[in-house]
This record gives sequence, C-alpha cells and structure tokens, in this order.
Amino acid sequence: MGYAFDQLSSPVLIAHRGASSQAPENTLAAFDLALKLHADAIEFDVRLTKDKHVIVFHDFMLQRTTNGKGKVHNKTLSELKSLDAGSFFDPSFQGQSIPTLEEIFEKIGSRTFYHIEIKNFFHPFNKLPEKVISLIKKYNLQSRVTISSFNPIALIQANHLLPSLGKGLLMQYPQTFTFVHKGLSNYISLKSLHIPVENVTKGIINHIHSMDQKILVYTVNDPKLIRKLVLWGVDGIFTDDPRTARNALMAEE
Ligand code: G3P
Ligand code: CA
Repeated sequence: MGYAFDQLSSPVLIAHRGASSQAPENTLAAFDLALKLHADAIEFDVRLTKDKHVIVFHDFMLQRTTNGKGKVHNKTLSELKSLDAGSFFDPSFQGQSIPTLEEIFEKIGSRTFYHIEIKNFFHPFNKLPEKVISLIKKYNLQSRVTISSFNPIALIQANHLLPSLGKGLLMQYPQTFTFVHKGLSNYISLKSLHIPVENVTKGIINHIHSMDQKILVYTVNDPKLIRKLVLWGVDGIFTDDPRTARNALMAEE
C-alpha cells in the first residue's frame, strides 16, 4: 500500500478546508471546487459528535461558521445536520450542511488525496482516531489518506491501528520540534512535519529532509511567498486559494 505523497509530484498543493477562499470551509461545496481547481489534495478537520459520529468541522464552537451555538461535541449528528454551514460565507451557499467523513468518502472517494486533521487535542484519548481509521478501511482509501494532528497520541493510535497509513505531525512552534517531533519520529514512522508559514526556515526544511521526512507549510495564499517556499524546498503547501497557488507553481516551472 503506497504512501499518498509518493503518488504526487512535489510540491503538493493542498486545498485548506477545501477551496475555502471561494466557498464555505469544510463543506462539500468547498471540496468540489478544490477538485475543479485541480488541487492535488484536500485538507479538512474532523471531530466527534455527542453520539460519536465523525464530522468535518474546524472549530470547537459552532458560532463562527454556522447558525448554531455551543460546543460541537455536545451536539448529536442530527442536531448538527439541521444547521446551515454555508450562509456565514455567502447567502448563495445557504443550505450547505456540516458533512460527515463518511459522506465525503462516499461522494469523492478516490478522486483526490486527503489530509485529515484529527482535532481531539482537548479529548486526546477519545475514539476519533479509531473511527476515522475504520472509515478509511471501509472505503479502501489507505493509499490516499495522510492523517495529521497536533495531538501525538492520535498519531500513535493511528499507527497502531493502521501502521502503513501516512502520518504527519502538526506543530505550531518549531523550537519545540526537537523534543516532540524527534521523540515521536523514534517511536512511529512519521512521514511529515506540518508547520505555520511564519515559523518556517531553511534550516528547519533541511533538518526535516535529513530525517527523510517531508515538510508541509500552512496556510499560504500569497503567490510570491509560495514561489519562495518552493525555491526553499518545501514539499507541500496548504492554501485556501488553489487557483492562485496553482498559477504561482506554474509560473515557477
Ligand atoms: O493542516 C494545517 C492546518 O489546517 C492546521 O491549522 O487551524 O487551519 O486547522 P488549522
Ligand atoms: Ca486543519
């Protein structure tokens, strides 16, 4: 079973929460658009509902991107499905709902590659990794998915359940990467480190490459910056704007 990155040419262009500069983040509309705009992969965030379904949603709270209120993990799937997750972006997207991971796999299947961010930092031992892995297996998408998380425990669990799956560690501050990243790399087969663009340096890129891992950078929408990062040797870019990012990469060739 191949690692997703080995099937793509570098740098990989990953639509962050879908084409989220042009459609409401983490909705089917944003993912469909990302595919139309030829993103190599889509990134999204997953969380558990109160009744333990896996949904695609970024925030801990509902207010910013839906017409609901309160904490996501206190709501059932049917309560969440009744919410509008499109109007916050633009009235023309009214009726977009919060997708489940299963819906995404069902509708998009093997038409793209996936970066699935496990958002369970505040419930680090919950069943989210287990449920995500089980859906990846059900839809036979092992070679198309990379799992990422700020929670190293989630990556250790994923590694235990499906050792061949690509795993990337998300880190905010590179100064801590020697401790958490190195320790985790010694313990599981880690394929990549994902860090914010503000914190990337050539030194970090070289260091990660010397460990035979990829380095992915988020979230980059500025074409000049994209070109600079490519020259520096980053392996992938998370962008809200796949069209601009693709044009920037083409200008580089
Ligand atoms: O995976 C990169 C990026 O998505 C991590 O930050 O807050 O956008 O989920 P955030
Ligand atoms: Ca994310």
